[in-house]
Amino acid sequence: MDIPKSDALVFFGATGDLAYKKIFPALQRMVKHGGLDVPVIGVAKAGWGLDDLKARAKDSLEQHGGLDGAAFAKLSALLRYVDGDYADGGTFEALRRELGAAKHPTHYLAIPPALFGTVVGQLDRHRCADGARVVVEKPFGRSLASARELNVILHRTFAEPDIFRIDHYLGKNAVQNLVFFRFANAFLEPIWNRNFVESVQITMAEQFGVQGRGAFYEEAGAIRDVVQNHLLQVLANVAMEPPTGARENESVRDEKVKVLKAVATLDPGHVVRGQFKGYLDEKGVAAGSTVETYAALRLDIHSWRWQGVPFYIRAGKCLPVTCTEVMVKLKQPPPVYASVPPANHLRFRLGPEATIAVGAMVKKPGDELVGEEMELLVSHDEDSFEADAYEQLLGDAMDGEPFRFAREDYVEEAWRIVDLVAGASAKPIEYAPGSWGPREAERLVAPGTWHDPQGAR
Ligand code: BG6
Repeated sequence: MDIPKSDALVFFGATGDLAYKKIFPALQRMVKHGGLDVPVIGVAKAGWGLDDLKARAKDSLEQHGGLDGAAFAKLSALLRYVDGDYADGGTFEALRRELGAAKHPTHYLAIPPALFGTVVGQLDRHRCADGARVVVEKPFGRSLASARELNVILHRTFAEPDIFRIDHYLGKNAVQNLVFFRFANAFLEPIWNRNFVESVQITMAEQFGVQGRGAFYEEAGAIRDVVQNHLLQVLANVAMEPPTGARENESVRDEKVKVLKAVATLDPGHVVRGQFKGYLDEKGVAAGSTVETYAALRLDIHSWRWQGVPFYIRAGKCLPVTCTEVMVKLKQPPPVYASVPPANHLRFRLGPEATIAVGAMVKKPGDELVGEEMELLVSHDEDSFEADAYEQLLGDAMDGEPFRFAREDYVEEAWRIVDLVAGASAKPIEYAPGSWGPREAERLVAPGTWHDPQGAR
């Protein structure tokens, strides 16, 4: 069956931060690469007109990646604008008129989840949802219960194949490469299991703080902000079974759900939560807030492949470096030439830049039988991953291609894993900005150590 391409893109939250930082740059790139030639309708309540939106788009591009004169002229010609309250039926009547003869619009909800229900209901009532798709931004809920409620709300109007839940990590080439590299090469599969792998560490370190998003962060915290979504996606890519069958893309999503089902619900005793010193002084942060800006945790996967192999995740703001890496440590080899060689590893840098490295021992040149640890490295230079991710994801949604989006059962499993600890009210441990977070996290990996991506490429 042919899946129709969207003939209009509507984005709610057109005057907001996400549109400013990510959506306009993605739209300009889509136009430039020939992936966008349909009306693009911004919707917001700002008392604006179309010229204001165009000026905002221009400003956004100048600040984020640069204005491309020809592409911007084309994008400008595609832009439309509807101003109004989401609770007001008139806003959606106006939208219906702007949609004209469009039969398969994509509605992108770049708005807080609390507004999803209102907007989706209005789309339905005002015949904007017929034949349409909907794209929703993360966070998808704040808990398992709220994610389920959101799914119910969306399903009242849209069928699952027409719902596209964004996790921009799925648009990153390096994240997709985890699956590709694993299954497109024969040498990895025989060792990718509990017999050869000692542990897996996923580190998402960010040198910066909450960057003025204190109010948003208060509703999230590190576990809801990046662990439940981005980092569990990374874990699923590392741990899933190979996709099978003709419908390989849907099969990848099936396998991801399957592996998450084998992940034990996160034990609060396997989590260390931290808060950087100074967080409480951020704008929008409540006095005495117990929101964590750092989390280190251990997950166990009860499957034939992974039983007994700890999966560690560490994520935080105000850490010494900005870097996301997966470190797969193999088991210690026996002594050779009277010394014990270090364990081999595979290291995947997901950003900035993308690297795949195999850590191995080689003999040093010279008479002595002495080895040194070296990495065999594959590296692609890629700029601005996230921006590319948005271009890819919006294009996919408009093509009706759901592969790079989180499915209903997946998001619910991911919430099930972290639900007990997300938003815990215990006071987090304070850590100094620029440090690797609370020392208490060391006990999680004992007798090993946390991987420090600082020196590596
Ligand atoms: C977002 C989080 O989803 O991802 C941010 O809300 C985080 O807190 C960001 O900084 C990281 O994305 P990337 O692509 O820069 O790793």
